[in-house]
Amino acid sequence: MAIERLVEPTAARDAEEERIEITLRPTSFDDYIGQEHLKSNLRLAIEAVKKRSDGSTLDHILLYGPPGLGKTTMAGVIAHELGASLRVTSGPAIERAGDLASILTNLKDGDVLFIDEIHRLRRAVEEVLYSAMEDYKLDIVIGKGPAARSVRLDLPHFTVIGATTRTGSLAGPLRDRFGIIHRLEYYKEPEIEQIIMRTAKILGTEIRPEACELLATRSRLTPRIANRIFKRVRDFADVNGDGIIDTVVAKDALKLMEIDYLGLDPADRNMLKLMWDNYGERPVGLSTIAALTGDEATTIEDFYEPYLLQLGLLARTPKGRVVTEKGRKHLQDSEPGF
Ligand code: ADE
Repeated sequence: MAIERLVEPTAARDAEEERIEITLRPTSFDDYIGQEHLKSNLRLAIEAVKKRSDGSTLDHILLYGPPGLGKTTMAGVIAHELGASLRVTSGPAIERAGDLASILTNLKDGDVLFIDEIHRLRRAVEEVLYSAMEDYKLDIVIGKGPAARSVRLDLPHFTVIGATTRTGSLAGPLRDRFGIIHRLEYYKEPEIEQIIMRTAKILGTEIRPEACELLATRSRLTPRIANRIFKRVRDFADVNGDGIIDTVVAKDALKLMEIDYLGLDPADRNMLKLMWDNYGERPVGLSTIAALTGDEATTIEDFYEPYLLQLGLLARTPKGRVVTEKGRKHLQDSEPGF
């Protein structure tokens, strides 16, 4: 069941959204709002590499955490701060070891290679990547059968930035190749407000501070969702008003989008309701939840769950997921309105 969800923080879903996302993307640490702990660690590492000037490169970096928190954006900032070129690819896009070989041999010294969804790399590709990351060598087999021979190519000294929503499903040897491993955290509400203000300024829209505050509370502490909601509210303000976003416009638009005061959309509420109606306080297995909602188990695990867990509406137990007291209360509260 593929419902279009406004609050689903998957990558940009059309060319227009991608264009705006790129316009909004910060390029330096100073422009990048939030993730202060990660930024100070990276600032230090980058400064150290620059100071050394002996040709050494930045350690490989693994960024993990829920989608939409700015892993790709951060990769761009790192490359920019290093003064390096960024090459972007993803686990599923690299189908064969040969595809990876061609990417690697086209890199230059100091380049940054960003691999999104790195946990989805195929095993054969992953193995080529290990040795490339470890000693900048590429082992390739030329020819087939008895005539086949293995050659070892030197690669430029590059930095991999891997991004994943799940470190758990990353093979141990691959994980071990990363010198810097960091989790991106959900943003704080004031940071989301700053991000919305920044977006409004770049896109030339007037927004009242109280409206900005309201939108921030509905954005699941996730910049991508904040920006997406902002754009919808901006359209609403252009069509139904004078283009200025005040609290009245913001509230009406949120009502139309059916996003409640915690940032939950109908699909979240539906999942909690199905769990509660069918199982009450008893734990429910992931596959059962998937069968109830008609979603893929991975969709539930990657997209619905992290924010519901963060809010404490859902809890994970060894026997499955349970709707918490807070979750049950929220279902009652949010049913009549928003
Ligand atoms: N846009 C999306 N994420 C951002 C961030 N963390 N800082 C500034 N602008 C952003």
